[in-house]
Amino acid sequence: MTKNPFSAIDLQRIIYLGGMMGVQPVVPFDFKELEIVARKRLSKEAFAYVAGGAGLESTMDANRRAFDQWQIMPRMLRDVSNRDISIELFGQRLPSPFLTCPIGVLELVHPEADIAVAKACASLGIPMIFSNQASVKMEDCAGVMGDSPHWFQLYWSKSNELVQSLIQRAEKCGCSAIVVTLDTTMLGWQTRDLDSAYLPFLRGMGIAQYLSDPVFMRLLDEPQEAALTIKPKINLTTIRNLITTVNKYPGRGFFKKLRSGKPMAAVRQFINIYSRPSLTWEDLSFLREQTKLPILLKGILHPDDARKALDKGMDGIIVSNHGGRQVDGAIGAFGALSSIVEAVNDAIPVLLDSGIRSGADTFKALALGAKAVCIGRPYVYGLAIAGQAGVEAVLKNFMADFELTMGLTGCKNINEISKELLTKAV
Ligand SMILES: Cc1cc2nc3c(=O)[nH]c(=O)nc-3n(C[C@H](O)[C@H](O)[C@H](O)COP(=O)(O)O)c2cc1C
Repeated sequence: MTKNPFSAIDLQRIIYLGGMMGVQPVVPFDFKELEIVARKRLSKEAFAYVAGGAGLESTMDANRRAFDQWQIMPRMLRDVSNRDISIELFGQRLPSPFLTCPIGVLELVHPEADIAVAKACASLGIPMIFSNQASVKMEDCAGVMGDSPHWFQLYWSKSNELVQSLIQRAEKCGCSAIVVTLDTTMLGWQTRDLDSAYLPFLRGMGIAQYLSDPVFMRLLDEPQEAALTIKPKINLTTIRNLITTVNKYPGRGFFKKLRSGKPMAAVRQFINIYSRPSLTWEDLSFLREQTKLPILLKGILHPDDARKALDKGMDGIIVSNHGGRQVDGAIGAFGALSSIVEAVNDAIPVLLDSGIRSGADTFKALALGAKAVCIGRPYVYGLAIAGQAGVEAVLKNFMADFELTMGLTGCKNINEISKELLTKAV
């Protein structure tokens, strides 16, 4: 698994030779085109959920602009006939500097959801970060990944017992790191979803990790905190949504489940406990005691927070603004990278997500000190277009594009990528 399973040049050849036989790639290479094609496959609500950001979506723009502020300065005549894009992360050799971001509610995009992503990642040796809001429970995804690396992303809920249970399950199903997402103590003001009054969790979607958790299910039998409820108007939409919710709940017998009231109670309980806005740095010691696995903090944008992560014994950082879905008007994630790399001073790996759209973005991130990058929306669009094959295509394209960018800039491997190969945009 240490070597890139294919070369960029082979991929180019296959594509261009295919063209000679009239075969056109199904999954577009350009991100904007990818989004356009994916949009046609998705419901209005699903597309809005994936593509949207918070407020005016200016953080999404900032994510892209940050990359434009640096340019690559290619070097010549350096024998780049052999190119190795593999990296080492937490003692593990990985075939490329790519991981997939944890993305919730993938059932909105494709019926195979997380399973399709897990299979695609495993076929390329790319680590998949299982989302806390996945549509398929982590054990099932791990089951199709074999030895291929997978991590678990945690949302810290109000119940420490639930946190403990999720971490134990992640360890049991072979996750090799825990990612704690810090930027979602509350849902951001996501204007597109608000416009269509659409939150998939209320329909029982994206809560598979909870419905498969013994602690969560046990808590269902305990008295629940009252949630804001509005007496539902019974119409066709209410009935359709109720059916979806009941069908998502584990077990057989639709009417039995409906009468038990449990499916609706599970959704209510999820809403009540899924996040804990009161979290502070002090809480991290609890997590540190729960596992020996590396813990990464996702959502760090300020160098002081990076220093605090170090003080708290954390093992890695993912610089991220959640793809612009949480704070509108925030710094572009790539713009925050340098100061965090400097603050951490090589003590722990720094990864980056939010706005990675090409091999060049990846090259720039690595040149400024990221050890790896996580791909988000692009693979979700690949999933929408062609399921597992679509995710595979997107991931392969990233690997090939990056390999060529690296080679054409005069680097044979990741170690040769450095800040000296970048300049501030002119
Ligand atoms: C539809 C969607 C769902 C997401 N769900 C999660 C999640 O469950 N957990 C999490 O930590 N981040 C989640 N994220 C954020 C991603 O992990 C990542 O930070 C973001 O997608 C990066 O931005 P980009 O996709 O624009 O590159 C989600 C992002 C999107 C677009």
